[in-house]
Amino acid sequence: MSAPNKSYDPVEVEALKPEQIERMRDEAVAAVAAASDLDELREVKAAHAGDRSPLALANREIAALPPHAKADAGKRVGQARGAVNKALAARQGELEAERDARVLVEEAVDVTLSYDRRPAGARHPMTTFADRIADVFTALGYRVAEGPEVETEWFNFDALNFPPDHPAREMQDTFFVRGADGGEDSGLVLRTHTSPVQIRSMIDSEPPLYVVCPGRVYRTDELDATHTPVFTQVELLAVDEGLTMADLKGTLDHMVGALFGEGMRTRLRPNFFPFTEPSAEMDMVCYVCRGESVGNPDRPCRTCSSEGWIELGGCGMVNPRVLTACGIDPDKYSGFAFGFGIERMLMFRHNIEDMRDIVEGDVRFTLPFGMEI
Ligand code: DAH
Repeated sequence: MSAPNKSYDPVEVEALKPEQIERMRDEAVAAVAAASDLDELREVKAAHAGDRSPLALANREIAALPPHAKADAGKRVGQARGAVNKALAARQGELEAERDARVLVEEAVDVTLSYDRRPAGARHPMTTFADRIADVFTALGYRVAEGPEVETEWFNFDALNFPPDHPAREMQDTFFVRGADGGEDSGLVLRTHTSPVQIRSMIDSEPPLYVVCPGRVYRTDELDATHTPVFTQVELLAVDEGLTMADLKGTLDHMVGALFGEGMRTRLRPNFFPFTEPSAEMDMVCYVCRGESVGNPDRPCRTCSSEGWIELGGCGMVNPRVLTACGIDPDKYSGFAFGFGIERMLMFRHNIEDMRDIVEGDVRFTLPFGMEI
């Protein structure tokens, strides 16, 4: 920068001579016009409009001019810089438009091309619910056991102490399987419950025995809003020394608490099953009204018909005759068991009104349950 100069003539400062400033401006504008892409333009901008550009340096010289010369020189430099900035902005706009047009062509996507992505599947809510129930028991030390869906009549009925003329064996309940020769007495049925897995487990292993058996079962029911010929049960069996009804009750209460939340309880009502003695029907507190609809006409509950309880299934202490049939000494060991259908449980847990929705496999029904794996 030149030193202050009392008798100063601006034309004498080389960088501020009008023709010098015009030259700087013209060179800058020509460089701007020559920039062929945005990267080049960025370099041109730094060289001709940046802090160290000729016009910026000339601008600094103005400070050293005497007051009367400052205005004139300032105007000339300012106009030149303005022209350069205008040219830069105009070229920037042109080059951006060119780039956008090029990207549109180069990166075009043909949205009419055929679509080859398949939607991810979701597990059926029955599967995840059965797994969750099994998890409650595996966390208590139970192991998961399975058995065949085509079962022998002996496992499905005889070993469970069903007399030969028991009504459950009759045609309206049981799918009998024809033999390979087409004959009717193949001795095979589609299992009507998961209780035969109890027998298989007791024959296969020595007590102490703690097993949970989820599985599909079959009955000759018509498919309607509350019945399905194929449904899912979960069976539980514990055989050990000194087990009592109190252990059964505590286990049931734990299960409903784990599945439906703290404070849920069960109750037992006397009943009869050939393979348990004593036997009971188990109910749980209504998950929806929690018993508050009982005797309260202002708050009716459709889930439990205002009874405050929902029937879950059967349970009891394993009949000593069943233990004996499986080679277990009933004087040393006792056992408890329970079994229940879980479609109904899923229905009141999620307000599902029609059982057919559960079995039909429409993804519009299953997807809202989430993609839980
Ligand atoms: N198996 C019976 C049924 O399907 C349910 C049942 C009742 C299972 C009592 C049990 C039990 O384990 O102890 O109707």
